[in-house]
Amino acid sequence: MTTSETFDNAIRSTRTTRTGAAYADAARDHLWMSFTRHSTYEPRESGGGGGSVPIIVKGEGAYIWDGQGRKYLDALAGLFVVQVGHGREELAEAAAKQARELAFFPLWSYAHPRAIELAERLAADAPGDLNRIFFTTGGGEAVESAWKLAKQYFKLTGKPGKYKVISRNIAYHGTPQGALSITGLPFAKEPFEPLVPGAVKVPNTNLYRAPEHLREDPKAFGRYCADRIAEAIEFEGPDSVAAVFLEPVQNSGGCFPPPPGYFERVREICDEYDVLLVSDEVICSFGRIGSMFASTDFGYQPDIITVAKGMTSGYSPIGAMIASDRLFEPFRHGHTMFAHGYTFGGHPVSAAVAMANLDIFEREGLNQHVKDNAPLFRATLDKLLDLPLVGDVRGDGYFYGIELVKDKTTRETFDDDECERLLRGFLSKALFDAGLYCRADDRGDPVIQLAPPLIIGQPEFDDIEQRLRSVLTEAENHF
Ligand SMILES: Cc1ncc(COP(=O)(O)O)c(C=O)c1O
Repeated sequence: MTTSETFDNAIRSTRTTRTGAAYADAARDHLWMSFTRHSTYEPRESGGGGGSVPIIVKGEGAYIWDGQGRKYLDALAGLFVVQVGHGREELAEAAAKQARELAFFPLWSYAHPRAIELAERLAADAPGDLNRIFFTTGGGEAVESAWKLAKQYFKLTGKPGKYKVISRNIAYHGTPQGALSITGLPFAKEPFEPLVPGAVKVPNTNLYRAPEHLREDPKAFGRYCADRIAEAIEFEGPDSVAAVFLEPVQNSGGCFPPPPGYFERVREICDEYDVLLVSDEVICSFGRIGSMFASTDFGYQPDIITVAKGMTSGYSPIGAMIASDRLFEPFRHGHTMFAHGYTFGGHPVSAAVAMANLDIFEREGLNQHVKDNAPLFRATLDKLLDLPLVGDVRGDGYFYGIELVKDKTTRETFDDDECERLLRGFLSKALFDAGLYCRADDRGDPVIQLAPPLIIGQPEFDDIEQRLRSVLTEAENHF
């Protein structure tokens, strides 16, 4: 059978479920999708949008296909996940081999070889003395674990009043109630209030929306943003603050890189007040910016790193909290333990896949590929700045946000109705119809987000730019 015959069969076999229902209908009737307005898919007769759930059936390299056989460039790596690209046989093989050998065993007082090997490998790559790996099944659990560790660490070391956390406006850190408290998106939190007390917010590093007198001076803006953290610690009381949670490049809001000097100053502040610096690298690690850990890219030393997504390139779920020797020290003694865990944390199959995934990184030099090609990716996207709708292109590595504005000179953004018409009414579908899977998002100002598999190069950059150009040109008529 040829590849395309295999693929045709894959599509055919996914047309209906085992009850004979069309996939789109069964999805509408039974799936409860994350952060999804289900009304979009309800029938028009009952007041819904009459849309059809897009169903992706296959991936190969940087491309995905839907059930009708249409091909899309996966410019979001699924959800900031598929670093090495789709369809890697060796990752499927690694999973199968491990499942045959030992499908499951927990890390609750026992261990298994793959988790040990992976912990050793992550510790070797992580900066400084971040040598202790607590495995989870995803990013939100890693963030949740980090807050719990920060609290317990200070209880064990004679500062029991330190429990609060500081994070940034519009930042997303996951949905468990602790992680959601750290998240800075009011719409995501409001339905679940009251959340965990003690989560304080400070400004993010959106240079494009910086106070006007700081826009032309990124260094001064970085200092200004970092100092807001010191101010919040002072305001809350240094004896009450345990940790600061920051992404190296903040995703939500549209890729805000750290201004020069920002993390250097944050580190100083954390040291001054004995507050832990948690680098939430759920998106930014595993080559997304160009190194295994983005704190390395930006030259700062965190106390904890949280990771997930790209660790297996999505071939199996896993996450981790990576903590410093200092934080583990009190847990080496007596009856002390971290009374916290997840049945599937460090799952043997996922750990085996992570090892095989990291082998691919090394063999193919993926991090160097990102470092070499990121400036070209950026330069290609910058071409879009000639469009009236494109206000800003920002990001780093293989991770960019394109902010859309109503007026480039004044940086005026869209009101809620315009945003609704532009993003949901037009852009999301138009981009997909144009063969580009990416994200049109308005959790801050409206942005298009790109985080493709790390394997792509100039031909795909050009392809992305051209597809965006045609859709964004047409978008001028849709708000
Ligand atoms: C920075 C950051 N932290 C945490 C999370 C939550 O990860 P998960 O969805 O695996 O729970 C995400 C998810 O996108 C994230 O981007």
